[in-house]
Order: sequence, then C-alpha cells, then structure tokens
Amino acid sequence: MCCSIVNFDINGCNYKLPVVYGTYEKAINISQLRENTGFITFDPGFKNTGITKSSISFIDGEKGKLLYRGYPIEQIINKCSFIETSYLLLNGELPNTAQLKYFSEKIKEFNFLSQEIYQILDKIPAFYHPMGILSSLTCILTAFTDSIQEEEEDMYFNLLAKLPILSALTYRKKVGLPTDYEVVSKNNNNLDYTSNLLKMFFSVPKKSYQINPVITDALDKLLILHADHEQNCSTTTVRLLGSVHANLFSSVSAGISALWGRLHGGANQAVIEMLENILNSGGNIKKWIEKAKDKKNPFRLMGFGHRIYKNFDPRAKIVKKVAENVIQKLGISDPILELAKELEEIVLKEPYFIEKKLYPNIDFYSGIIYQAMGIPKDMFTVMFALGRLPGWMAHWKEMRLNREPIGRPRQIYIGYKKRNIH
Ligand code: CMC
Repeated sequence: MCCSIVNFDINGCNYKLPVVYGTYEKAINISQLRENTGFITFDPGFKNTGITKSSISFIDGEKGKLLYRGYPIEQIINKCSFIETSYLLLNGELPNTAQLKYFSEKIKEFNFLSQEIYQILDKIPAFYHPMGILSSLTCILTAFTDSIQEEEEDMYFNLLAKLPILSALTYRKKVGLPTDYEVVSKNNNNLDYTSNLLKMFFSVPKKSYQINPVITDALDKLLILHADHEQNCSTTTVRLLGSVHANLFSSVSAGISALWGRLHGGANQAVIEMLENILNSGGNIKKWIEKAKDKKNPFRLMGFGHRIYKNFDPRAKIVKKVAENVIQKLGISDPILELAKELEEIVLKEPYFIEKKLYPNIDFYSGIIYQAMGIPKDMFTVMFALGRLPGWMAHWKEMRLNREPIGRPRQIYIGYKKRNIH
C-alpha cells in the first residue's frame, strides 16, 4: 500500500515524516527529523541510507538484477559497445548513428597529452602503484584544463580520451615500453575506443599492432560491466566532491583513489593474488575456506560478497563466461581459472556462505581475463577505473544538474564533554 506520510511516536509524541517514492524503492525523508524531534539517524556504512535520487542505474540485490538507464545488463552486453554504453549513461538514451559518430569523434579530438604531463610521468618512480599514478595524473590534468570554464560537454570527452592514455603510459613505463607519442597514440584515430586502448597499451616501435578481436571484444565487455553501479563507494566519493564544487578531474581522481581499496575495485588484484597463494601452497581449497570462516582471522575470500547483492552478481555470471571464452579461444591452459571454478563450486555449497548470502562478485573472474590479455596484476584496478569512468561522470553531471546540496553527514559524538586546560 502506498502512503505519503509515515507516523511514528517518540516518548509519547506523534511525528509525521514524508515518504519518497522512486521507480522501485521507497524511503522515509528524515531531513527535518532533528529539527522536529532532536534525533538524528545512525547508519554506519550507509547500509540503509539513500543519499540522492538518481536515474542512472538500478540494482535489485535480492533478485541479482542490474539496469543501466532501465536496460538489463544482459541486453546491453549483447547489443551495445562500451562507447554506446558511455553515451547512454551520460545522456540517458542510446545514441542513433549520427549521435554515436559525433560522440566518438569528439573523444578523438582530445586524444593527446600535454608535454608537461609526460615530464611529470617521467619523474614518477616506475615501482609506484599504477592506481596512485593514475589518480595523481588525473588530478594534475586540472592544471591543464580549466574545467569550470571549459564547455561542460568537452570535459567528459576530454576525460574519456585522457584516462586511457594515462593508463597506457603508466603500464608502458612500468614494463619499460617507450612512452613517446609516435609509438603510443599517433595514427590511432581510425581505431574504435577499445582497440585504441589496447594499441596504446601494447604497441611496440616499428611493428604494426595487430588487433585481436577476441581480446578487443572481451575488454569491451569488461568495460561495459564495470561502467556503472549506482551509489558504490567510489561513485559516492565522486558525487561528494562534486557537491562542494570540486572540478570533474579532481572528483574523478578521488574516485580512482576510493576504487583502489581492496574491498572495492582493488579486490580484482587481491583475488588473483589469493588464487595464486592457494595454488602455490598446495591447492587445499578447504583450508582457505576454513580460514575465511574463522571469526578470529581477518582473512576474507576475495571476490565473494557484496553490500547490495544478496544473490548472484549478474556481472559475475557474464564475466565467468567471457573468461572461459577468452581462455578457450586463445588456447591457453590456465590452472587459475580451473581453481577459481572449483573454489566457486565448493563455496556455493558451504552453509557459512549460503547463510550470509555471499556469492561471487564481478572481481572474482575479471583478473583471469586481464591476465590472459597480458595485463599485470597491479594494473587490474586501473582497467576497472577505465570502465567506471562514464558512470562516475554521469553521476557527477546528474548531481550538478540537480544542484544537490553539499554532502555532509552528521555524527554521534562520543568524546569528552567540554573540559578546561589547567
Ligand atoms: N569472506 C568471508 N566472509 C565474508 C566475506 C568474504 N568475502 N564477505 C562478507 N563476509 C562476512 C563478514 O565477515 C560478515 O560476517 P558476520 O556477520 O558474521 O560479522 C558478513 O559476511 C557481512 O559482511 P560485511 O562486511 O558486514 O558486509 P558488507 O556488505 O559491509 O561488505 C564486502 C561487502 C564486499 C565489503 C564484503 O563482502 C567483502 O569484504 N568481500 C571481499 C572483498 C571483495 O570481493 N570486494 C569486491 C566487492 S564487488 C566490486 C566492488 O564493489 O568494487
């Protein structure tokens, strides 16, 4: 039954709070609660707090469903490219042919990097974690682009072009490949977004880069699957920065830093490290599962569990299929994939994981695909960031258009009462 007001009593006094309805969810608007009652709400980790109204994506965690602008992820993955998906997230509708051409061409206009960024990259030690480099360089882009003055639309094109270049250069520096424009970016404008990305990563001097459609297709699908996931930690970070009118580049830079965390995007690196550890220590899966169940042990099975999904993560099902397809088509025999499948099978029958509704998430199989592409482990989360970029930007854009207030939670202070220095 729909109601527009909820009634509740505190110490015998009756209060009324308005109800907010979305397409699927309903919420109690508590913005006047403190003013009217003296109480605030207490919700560590925002487990039950809606911070905005958004029309970008929707997760039904109980059913394991994900929609981008209303379209199920299973349809998007079969019918759209990453660049069409980016357009959809940013603009609300899928592009027609002319819109798609314009969008793709505009991104290409920004396919370059200023000399100063090359010089800065040159000074950063190659051993530094790629996520730290990417976050720093993304923030530094602010210095070369006045994103407050710049045509707003151009900022999105600029970042869609720049993040792949920064990521590719970070990778190339790490593995000792030349980073000069001639090898990395020159003559790439005839390539689609994902082929350009791969070429920027892997091209070598004096050799024409051969596009492998299996790899391009797999990467495009991974980018789509990562493109948005409503109010996750990094997206909320981007929105919070936007709420204080930080510019797009510094907001996305903060999102990259948030994504780096091992409980968020950093899990894809942690999963492969965990699987390698299991394999190298004799492959005793049961032992590692016991470790994950042990309350005294902080170890968690990486790639399992999700704040919202209490059923299969629909993205994980797709990633698993993509991983199997890539490994088979590239003719690789991967003991890590076999181990991952075995681990998943055992975990899904374990009462601990069944009771807590812990299923494989997107990060469980994605690293296997990155590894098959030749991407090093500490670059996995960079690939996640490349996929998440249109989602971050769509949320930033939405919150600006809605003129959302500054994001500023309250707290329950538990420190000393006022005291004096003697
Ligand atoms: N292994 C073992 N136990 C787990 C796991 C796990 N992977 N995940 C959750 N639990 C247990 C946890 O110990 C807790 O038990 P209890 O209720 O007895 O204290 C219970 O399940 C609920 O966990 P929580 O940490 O309160 O749940 P959350 O919703 O706050 O956390 C999560 C979600 C993703 C942080 C968590 O499941 C986790 O740490 N997973 C491993 C890291 C991972 O794979 N992260 C990628 C998430 S998907 C991609 C993304 O968002 O970037």
